[in-house]
Amino acid sequence: MNIFYGKAALREYLKSIKTSNSTIGFVPTMGALHQGHLALMQKSLSENEYTAVSIFVNPTQFNNPEDLAKYPRTLAEDVEKLTALNPKIILYAPTVEDIYDGTPQSQSFNFDGLENQMEGKFRPGHFDGVGTIVKRLFEIIEPTRAYFGEKDFQQLQIVKKMVAKNKLKVTIIGCPIFRESNQLAMSSRNERLSALERDEAAIIYKILTQVKEKFASDSPLTISEWVQKEFENNPNFALEYFVIADEETLLECTLKNKNKKYRAFIAVLVNNIRLIDTISLN
Ligand code: PAJ
Repeated sequence: MNIFYGKAALREYLKSIKTSNSTIGFVPTMGALHQGHLALMQKSLSENEYTAVSIFVNPTQFNNPEDLAKYPRTLAEDVEKLTALNPKIILYAPTVEDIYDGTPQSQSFNFDGLENQMEGKFRPGHFDGVGTIVKRLFEIIEPTRAYFGEKDFQQLQIVKKMVAKNKLKVTIIGCPIFRESNQLAMSSRNERLSALERDEAAIIYKILTQVKEKFASDSPLTISEWVQKEFENNPNFALEYFVIADEETLLECTLKNKNKKYRAFIAVLVNNIRLIDTISLN
């Protein structure tokens, strides 16, 4: 497999393989690859001539230094997984210096308010960091299509907004959430959970599916209160937020409108490990 640690060599290689009508699919990741990541790559491989993957734990999107320090870094295993999936994958695994000149810093973005909800409220600066790295990676790789998971639905909407606002020539493709056998959404952070915590974390999706059932008849406020109570009864889990929001604007839904699409979003701390999940409600 072709692995590049620096953008100059990567760009030279891409220039040598690209023709005027070749397509490049791109899957940005922070590594510790799991089936959810690999599903995005499979989709890219099936839709494009070339697939590029990046592995970079981006410091500017971490608001919590402990989370950044403890984020799993497993490059050797990741390379094995990528090679097994398809040795034609082009891997870009840059150093911090290759991406940021000097001290890593975010650009400041306006995503029309999408950045102020949910993850944006609880992780100040997070989406400026995401916008900065994704824009930089798009400039380096110049992909035809880029693949993002619905697991990070707010991130997906923000990337789409950034592409539209900056008129970037890349198509953003959202992909469904890949789950463990107990329905816990796959995440690199799951590696930090004990076996027992992983089992117990099945409650997150269980609650979301019940929320979906209740959404047909109950008000968003009643549902939110029910979710709060479920977590109060569960001392190992601390609910950070539960929000029912409009899929498009991500604004909290107070009164249901039949013409809008809604989603429930949740963030939970298990032993200080932050897990997020989401479900479409209608
Ligand atoms: P990371 O958390 O590694 O995720 C990389 C991509 O995989 C994201 O688009 C994410 O939504 C998707 N993904 C993660 N878990 C998934 C699952 N269980 N099912 C489907 N897709 C899943 O998201 C990031 O990295 C970073 O913010 C990044 C975009 C790379 C910028 O640094």
